[in-house]
Amino acid sequence: MSAQENKTGLPLVHLGITRPEELSALFADLRGRFNADCACALDESSWKQFRDTWLGRKSGVLAQITDNWLKPATPELKRAVGQQLNELRAHVESQIESRRAAIETGTEETARDRVDLSLPGVIRPVGSRHLVRQVFQEIEDIFFSIGFSVVDGPEIETPYYNFEALNIPEFHPVRDDMDTFYLDLPKGAPTLLLLRTHTSPMQIRTMEKQKPPVRVIVPGKVYRRDNPDATHSFAFHQIEGLAVDTDITFCDFTGTIEYFVKQFFGPSVKTRFRPSYFPFTEPSVEFDVSCPFCAGTGTAASGGTCSKCKGAAWIELFGAGMVDPAVYGFVNYDPKKVSGFAFGIGIDRLAMLKYGIDDIQVFFQNDVRFLRQFP
Ligand code: DAH
Repeated sequence: MSAQENKTGLPLVHLGITRPEELSALFADLRGRFNADCACALDESSWKQFRDTWLGRKSGVLAQITDNWLKPATPELKRAVGQQLNELRAHVESQIESRRAAIETGTEETARDRVDLSLPGVIRPVGSRHLVRQVFQEIEDIFFSIGFSVVDGPEIETPYYNFEALNIPEFHPVRDDMDTFYLDLPKGAPTLLLLRTHTSPMQIRTMEKQKPPVRVIVPGKVYRRDNPDATHSFAFHQIEGLAVDTDITFCDFTGTIEYFVKQFFGPSVKTRFRPSYFPFTEPSVEFDVSCPFCAGTGTAASGGTCSKCKGAAWIELFGAGMVDPAVYGFVNYDPKKVSGFAFGIGIDRLAMLKYGIDDIQVFFQNDVRFLRQFP
């Protein structure tokens, strides 16, 4: 603002002002200009310029008023000029200070909120599927390719599905290692509930729902009161398999399992089965695979004993069998008309074998250093 514009460069007589009443309009005009200037001081540098324009010691507007209006004022004007100048000064100083404070907080906010488009974007690492999930998928794909479909079942089960309907009555000894995690239920609950100890209950639920032919696999979590060690965990994973139709034979059974094992471990492995016992299969077998790590020789490449099969040349894989006719009785299938087979594969065990993992606990620890090895 030039002195001319402000009229502050000239003594009052030159402005034709001789009476105190004429001062008010002059000062009101100045205050209006000041307010307009103040609104334009939006950042630190324009604020500094604005401050100097009004408060500058030599040529600031207030200094000019003092020099040009007050000092040479006639005695009758002097008092009024001094009074009006003081009022204007008070207004100017307080406004300049509050403008400064406003700019200071305002800039902080702007700096914080400012979007810097030149910064690199936020990289959110994409996770990968857990190795157990990958092995599930691998096994599911193999069974999909031969006509099985996937079904899902509850992890909280009734003793009926987990035991009785699988031909495991209340005092059957095989309950010893399974009859464990029961839920606390309110008094009078209609049935006990437990964490399923295997995926086999889904055999029953599936057959209850559909007539043969049945060809399903059931991937899922199961729970047992096992003390944690390198091969045991309170929770682990299984895939149940069930095939029931009017003409399924033991040959279909072994052919299917052999196909699966060769797809999973490679075509050169051999399979064998040994007699075993499960209440819901008859006959029951335990499937073994020739050790894929020493080509079924029991001897490692170094000449020593193979550490995977401990020199046995065979590795025990999982249990299976032909469905026990007693089970059909629980689902209203006619055991004279239908036959089938079932199997229960421990996923953690298979994953450990295939990928050379020697401690099941790593599956549950969520340590990214482990997980990243299986992208
Ligand atoms: N349910 C058995 C277990 O968890 C595994 C099993 C064995 C499942 C034989 C089967 C089978 O379907 O036929 O120990």
